[in-house]
Amino acid sequence: MVPESVEAVIAAFARTGYVADRGLAVTTFLGLRLGRPLFLEGEAGVGKTEVAKVLAEILETDLIRLQCYEGLDASQALYEWDYARQMLAIRLIEARGEGGEADVSDIMSREYLRPRPLLQAIEASALGKSPVLLIDELDRADEEFEAYLLELLSDFQVTLPEIGTIRAEEPPVVVITSNRTREIHDALKRRCLYHWLDYPSVEREVEILRARMPGVDEALARQLAMAMSDLRALDLFKPPGVAETLDWAAALKVLAASHLDPTTIDESLGTVLKYREDIERVREHGLEALVHE
Ligand SMILES: Nc1ncnc2c1ncn2[C@@H]1O[C@H](COP(=O)(O)OP(=O)(O)OP(=O)(O)O)[C@@H](O)[C@H]1O
Ligand SMILES: [Mg+2]
Repeated sequence: MVPESVEAVIAAFARTGYVADRGLAVTTFLGLRLGRPLFLEGEAGVGKTEVAKVLAEILETDLIRLQCYEGLDASQALYEWDYARQMLAIRLIEARGEGGEADVSDIMSREYLRPRPLLQAIEASALGKSPVLLIDELDRADEEFEAYLLELLSDFQVTLPEIGTIRAEEPPVVVITSNRTREIHDALKRRCLYHWLDYPSVEREVEILRARMPGVDEALARQLAMAMSDLRALDLFKPPGVAETLDWAAALKVLAASHLDPTTIDESLGTVLKYREDIERVREHGLEALVHE
């Protein structure tokens, strides 16, 4: 069900365990109402990908995910031919011996097509079951792919030479994410509603811990959130995201640690920081400084 208001979006997110701030909720609400893609940018591990998963859950529909990478091109994102089945079909036709050789049209039909995420999304929409289409980490793909995507996002139809045109009457709900390792082209951004996901405040991070780790000790959650906030202020090579906060909390639970102290932090720092230089930097800064009573 499409939420009726911004407050309803926040509530629906909360029911799935996702703590959305108002800015994200407004952008999501508008995106759903106006039928525009969401463009979510932010540091690693701040909950960008999760927004798409949560939306699929809220809208009770499928999530179709296209993970972008360097060298991804339109054909890989759209469909591929099922060569093994085509070969098999040719053999079968020839074995039956009906008039000799197999015709191209016998093996170039929809039956032998394996839809990749973009075609999956368009086909599902054409059948009246609009999915959530997640185009994850678009900054990893090349600019040519972006140009192709721009075209697709404007009319949601594809023409396959051997098969014809498939058109999504009701376009899918599109969520595009980027870690901003490079700028995404303005033309594509213009089609979307933009939201920058920041690291959460201490208050919000405590809320996230409560939502994601039911039963977490209130004082420990606060200590963790404050230590995270300190770490993010340290000019690290790779500041930890919300994902790391949750990992840290899970690690402390396994270690049966009920509060943070320098020894516990020292032992569990590897769940939060993944670069030797960052760990050294934090040790220099002093582990006691991360402990808030
Ligand atoms: N506001 C939030 N409420 C609840 N959980 C959150 C929130 N933000 C992040 N998380 C959790 O943090 C983890 C990381 O989120 P996610 O994978 O969506 O981050 P991301 O921004 O896509 O990261 P990356 O850039 O590394 O792909 C997930 O387990 C997600 O559930
Ligand atoms: Mg992600």
